[in-house]
Amino acid sequence: MCGIVGYVGDKQSAPLLIEGLEKLAYRGYDSAGVAVIENGKLRIDKAKGHLEVLSERIDGGAAIQSNVGIGHTRWATHGRPSDENSHPHRSGSGRFAVVHNGIIENYVQLKAELIDKGVEFCSETDTEVIAHLLEELYDGELLSTVAKVIGRLQGSYALGILCEEHPDEIVAIRSSSPLIVGLSDAGNFIASDIPAILSHTRKIYHLENDELVLLKGDGVSIYTLELEPVLKKVEEVTWDVAAAEKGGYAHFMIKEIIEQPRALQDTISPRVDDNGEIVLDGITLTAQQLKNIKKIYIVACGSAYHVGVVGKYVLEKLTRIPTEADLASEFRYRSPLVDESTLCIIISQSGETADTLAALREAKERGARVLSIVNVVGSSIANESDDVLYTWAGPEIAVATTKAYSTQLVMLDLIALYIAKRLGRITKEEMRGLLSSIIKLPGRVEAIIESYDDRLRELAEKFKDYEHAYFLGRNVDYAVALEASLKLKEISYIHSEAYAAGELKHGTISLIEENTLVVALAGCHRLFAKTLSNIKEVKARGAYVLAVTTEDNTAIEQEADDVLYIPCTKELLMPSLEVVPMQLLGYYIALARGCDIDKPRNLAKSVTVE
Ligand code: AGP
Repeated sequence: MCGIVGYVGDKQSAPLLIEGLEKLAYRGYDSAGVAVIENGKLRIDKAKGHLEVLSERIDGGAAIQSNVGIGHTRWATHGRPSDENSHPHRSGSGRFAVVHNGIIENYVQLKAELIDKGVEFCSETDTEVIAHLLEELYDGELLSTVAKVIGRLQGSYALGILCEEHPDEIVAIRSSSPLIVGLSDAGNFIASDIPAILSHTRKIYHLENDELVLLKGDGVSIYTLELEPVLKKVEEVTWDVAAAEKGGYAHFMIKEIIEQPRALQDTISPRVDDNGEIVLDGITLTAQQLKNIKKIYIVACGSAYHVGVVGKYVLEKLTRIPTEADLASEFRYRSPLVDESTLCIIISQSGETADTLAALREAKERGARVLSIVNVVGSSIANESDDVLYTWAGPEIAVATTKAYSTQLVMLDLIALYIAKRLGRITKEEMRGLLSSIIKLPGRVEAIIESYDDRLRELAEKFKDYEHAYFLGRNVDYAVALEASLKLKEISYIHSEAYAAGELKHGTISLIEENTLVVALAGCHRLFAKTLSNIKEVKARGAYVLAVTTEDNTAIEQEADDVLYIPCTKELLMPSLEVVPMQLLGYYIALARGCDIDKPRNLAKSVTVE
């Protein structure tokens, strides 16, 4: 995720900015930059790549004389990593500089409007529209100008803004992207995250959405968008530096689980317009090309493959196009039956997984159209695909994927609806119903996290010494079982397997004995009675059953030992909800067993070798 730091005060700003950006590096970034006012002139230094590139260029900040500045580490979203796309961005006249975290959802319209007025753009970013709007709406006052610009923006943002004509001020604001203010006797700070400023101050303001901050060396004032003053309480940070990097959480994995509502929101909202239409900016497939598709392959590794297994059910149901989910490492070596009538959907968080990249190349060579779902902008898979749809999950640091999986899942739902609509295979009512349920997913995921955090800690204590676990489900529940099982085994080292519940009797049931842990996923309404029968079968053989089902299926309490109820949604979307308690279960069991959760043994975050 991008990082912001800003400082105005008695000290030299540039070294403080570089130091702050170094502290934000753990969040992941691909370029960095600073803007300062030096001798009355706005100066911007920025560079793609490691922060050291920028730091060397300005001698760690010592090459710059300035007491006010803003800095940024960028994690590419709109536009590949490059010098031009790095922040800060400058307005046409060069007097405004802006750093931004978040996504401006209406930037395409704003950009078109500005281009019509003769504005020239230097980058591919959404952020640059903010710099040009500041110029366009400038009324001589920085604060009121920023308030007017905010009125034009839709989406999420944390902003730090400098103006040459106000050389002792920084204006900052946030909406749905974090930003704090740090207070010290030697000057004041803004930062997207506490570690950036923790070595200088522990006194902070947490900002609410749309609170405008005027930062000066000798004071900080906060206003509403109507420029009414806001009184805030100073808070004292008690975290140590290591805890601060994880936002106070013990592990990146739990932080990333908790970030899922935001990640889902960022992935969904730019793709659904005000008229309830799906807008997939990364798809250039024409209606005719879509009509020619006879087969869809979803190809990926690990959890991304598990997303593909859900995708098979969703795409076949909605589009009626035969769909296969395939492991990239198998697909690449088995002369897949792929040609010009095949759409190959490649899924990868990192965009660099060796087998997935090789499978992409194999599919392209055989004439398939390749559409990828990727989290890292500018990655190899993104670059080599015909079409790319990005999951706006932000950087994922824990080896065990959570928010990337969830955003990939919803991206596939949107693709399926998009294709179904274009092929005329979905009614308006079905479309409306599914879309409105998709829009509700972030809120429902948030509610599940809030209501189950403590419960799953307790269950983890109960299950932590089990040696084997079996995850069962039917249809999309089976697809979730695959991911739930992987989550548990990769971080807790408990042997775990996932089975299609109907397959039990064909062999696996012989493994069930007294006190075997069975997690039964029973979210799929149509098949609830069938899964219930499977629960009875394993119970009869002594299994301890934890069931996951929707709130209306209370009958399950007679059979299962423990039940986790989740809100009801459309059957095809159940995986987005069911997976969340399973992530928490894996996390808390691993925690109870004292495992190295963020870096499990033998595993790497990105598998770039075969
Ligand atoms: C899951 O928790 C793992 N980190 C792993 O299975 C992962 O999903 C797989 O290696 C694929 O990675 P990718 O999405 O970066 O291609």
